[in-house]
Amino acid sequence: MNKSGSAQGTDGEIITILLVDDIPEARENIKKMIAFEPDMKVVGSAGTGREGVALAKELKPNIVIMDINMPDMDGIQATALITQAVPTTAVIMMSVQSDQDYLQRAMLVGARFFLSKPVSMDDLYNTIRSVYVQHKQLAEQYRTMASASSGVAVKAPSQVASGDDDNRAGHIIVVYSPQGGAGCTTIATNLASGLMREGIRALLVDADLQFGDVGVFLNIQAQSTIVDLARSVGDLDTELFDNIVVTHDSGLKVLMGPTRPAEAFVVQENPSAVATIIQKIANHYDFIIVDTGRHMDETLGALFDVASKIVLVATPTLAGVKNVRFVMDEFDQLGYSTDKTMIVLNRVPLDRNLQKFAIPSEKISKFLKRPVEVEIPSDELTALTAMSKGVLIVAQRDRSRSPVKEFMQLADLIYTKMMGTETEAEAKPQTEKTGGLFRTNIFGRTS
Ligand SMILES: Nc1ncnc2c1ncn2[C@@H]1O[C@H](COP(=O)(O)OP(=O)(O)OP(=O)(O)O)[C@@H](O)[C@H]1O
Ligand SMILES: [Mg+2]
Repeated sequence: MNKSGSAQGTDGEIITILLVDDIPEARENIKKMIAFEPDMKVVGSAGTGREGVALAKELKPNIVIMDINMPDMDGIQATALITQAVPTTAVIMMSVQSDQDYLQRAMLVGARFFLSKPVSMDDLYNTIRSVYVQHKQLAEQYRTMASASSGVAVKAPSQVASGDDDNRAGHIIVVYSPQGGAGCTTIATNLASGLMREGIRALLVDADLQFGDVGVFLNIQAQSTIVDLARSVGDLDTELFDNIVVTHDSGLKVLMGPTRPAEAFVVQENPSAVATIIQKIANHYDFIIVDTGRHMDETLGALFDVASKIVLVATPTLAGVKNVRFVMDEFDQLGYSTDKTMIVLNRVPLDRNLQKFAIPSEKISKFLKRPVEVEIPSDELTALTAMSKGVLIVAQRDRSRSPVKEFMQLADLIYTKMMGTETEAEAKPQTEKTGGLFRTNIFGRTS
């Protein structure tokens, strides 16, 4: 499954492994394969789920390789108990059933990876090393926390006193478009960067859980993501949060989305997890800018509910505008105040030949019954150059030039609206009366 390659940064460390499988030959097979690898060591093996949990607690291995079908306690239940009790351990599930349902259930209880039986040597080695490397940072963080707190429950961010860093404005700006490719990620990344200024703390969150590409745009990889936070959303800890947030070369703080689409399942189980995480850390930042995917689900509905402002991105095309109108009608029905949303038109053609195919912004405003607040011109070269270098468009020195100018105009507008005329109602995320767009059955979903 994972072909990501050779020994990736295990740095001469020995990866300790516990095998859990009810079939002795299966355990023996894996053990033999692992014996060839100098950086791996099987430290224990168990024939039942229950025994596996007990040994994991005792040995605290780096990795558990877990069979799914076992008598007494199955692999999924055992994984749930191990990831709870020994968070420093990462579990790799192994099963002949490679169907979606198993995969989902395994990921939901905290498994890090899923291997289909029979497994090839290469797949086994690569998966063990890559899961070890991915989990390492988080595991170290858990170890530090455990020794620091020595049994005392860790505090939620809201309870942690850390100077004025826990008393920030906490404006949550959700960037959304019902149209794929309209420019949400481009706008969210540049808006977050544009909002950064002296004394202001901004955080960019990739909440496009399935196909988020903030990491690609900014050329950053993270070993830990929002999914790791979602797993422990009940007792979220500031220190853990700070360790998961990565810093882009520009200084921008970023909370990355899942590394694989399958991990989104973890969050789907608890659709309000992402909104809850953001709310919990909101008072540590002045602005939290949230990039979203177009897929309408309850996670998105919960984000809309807690947003201080929703930036709705349209392109000057019929399809783009029609769908934005549909979303706005829903917002109206939910009783969202008009100033909760803001229309931004992106990819407006500058070329005269193309302009005649674009819908003029006055017509769009009329149709949407809201003003188009910022119009960002289309500039493929600038957008692609920035993306290929992993830099932001607004990082260009000449801010008087389009489209840098318009991206900055958007950032300045939001800054002034939110920080300049801050009222009680604006300062707090609004939770609307109706209880959320996607809990209605309009998209075929009920809660
Ligand atoms: N103003 C612009 N001018 C030219 N190209 C742009 C502009 N804004 C975005 N793009 C380009 O359009 C493509 C899609 O942009 P982006 O990924 O930001 O959209 P998205 O809404 O996040 O898409 P997705 O639905 O995939 O999440 C990218 O290649 C980006 O570089
Ligand atoms: Mg995107």
